[in-house]
Amino acid sequence: MSNQTIVVGAGSGYDKVRLEQRDVAAPGPGEITVRLRANSLNFHDYAVVTGLWGALSEDRVPMADGAGEVEAIGEGVTEFAVGDHVVSTFFTTWYDGETEVEGFDTVPGDGIDGYACERVTRSAQAFTPAPSNYTPVQAATLTTAGLTAWRALMEDGALKPGETVLVQGTGGVSIFALQFAKHCGATVIATSSSDAKLERLGALGADHLINYKQDKNWGQTARDITGGIGVDHVIEVGGPDTLAQSMTAVRVRGHIAVIGVLSGVAGEVSLMPMLAKQIRLQGVLVGNRRQQQDMVRAIEASNIEPLIDKTFPLQELADAFRYQETNQHFGKICLTI
Ligand SMILES: NC(=O)c1ccc[n+]([C@@H]2O[C@H](COP(=O)([O-])OP(=O)(O)OC[C@H]3O[C@@H](n4cnc5c(N)ncnc54)[C@H](OP(=O)(O)O)[C@@H]3O)[C@@H](O)[C@H]2O)c1
Repeated sequence: MSNQTIVVGAGSGYDKVRLEQRDVAAPGPGEITVRLRANSLNFHDYAVVTGLWGALSEDRVPMADGAGEVEAIGEGVTEFAVGDHVVSTFFTTWYDGETEVEGFDTVPGDGIDGYACERVTRSAQAFTPAPSNYTPVQAATLTTAGLTAWRALMEDGALKPGETVLVQGTGGVSIFALQFAKHCGATVIATSSSDAKLERLGALGADHLINYKQDKNWGQTARDITGGIGVDHVIEVGGPDTLAQSMTAVRVRGHIAVIGVLSGVAGEVSLMPMLAKQIRLQGVLVGNRRQQQDMVRAIEASNIEPLIDKTFPLQELADAFRYQETNQHFGKICLTI
């Protein structure tokens, strides 16, 4: 049975990406074999493949997000049947409840092999049903970007209709956050480096638009938009270059979901606004399986569709990452398998 697989060799970098044929085991008790049909790219996958956060010490199959259909089931699996459409979970051991994971050791495409392959046999718990109204490419956007936005707003943020959410840039997480926030009846302030992209954010329902390249004090502008009160939630994806403005934008006792590191992992930040405003900074690392099941149910009851910018065949993974590097994309870049 064909199982073409992308492997990144130890050391990392595009020159280490190779295609090989790998065996796929028959499912044992509690396992399923999935014929994968799509992946989506995240900044995290890019960091693993390029070695941005450290070179790989061994060969690794990249990609945390995989969607496809169940091809075989092992003994004792009752949740899935052959032919069911499924999507992978980010954490393979965190099923429900309070966070119990630290870092990426159990994450496909990082600590363990991921889904840049035709077939995989894994615990049934490493997948959830995909939304019944989604294609595999659409479903593959949910594992990382979708669930991060969902958890940040709906779980940690307990978002309520009428609240104001600030989203940064036009990547996968921020666009999902915009869509979930609008679906929930929130007001959304969206930023981008590009006026053309801002126009598209407006078409998606963003209520207020700020070009963060032209307006260096975009945090104050966002606060002014709320009549000086400040926003209730910030989807903070920029990191050191954006956190200070996020703290300016947020209201007293507001919530900043600390998610992204697009401008790096370290920098100088004044703690004064955090103390003065008693801001809640909540670090986020995607979410658990039950949260993904909740998100899938909510999506099925809505008309939310992921924004797919461009799709590449699996074999062109390196080209897909090169495209991601240009920051031209609006929403998700995906792979078909
Ligand atoms: N903690 C978690 O659980 C988690 C989960 C998913 C992602 N993340 C992180 O969140 C970040 C975004 O991920 P993603 O997958 O959504 O990325 P992405 O799809 O690659 O999004 C990149 C977009 O972000 C905007 N951007 C780039 N630099 C920026 C900056 N300095 N300030 C504000 N916006 C900036 C740009 O939008 P414009 O062109 O419109 O300006 C760019 O197109 C990454 O750092 C990623 O590692 C964390």
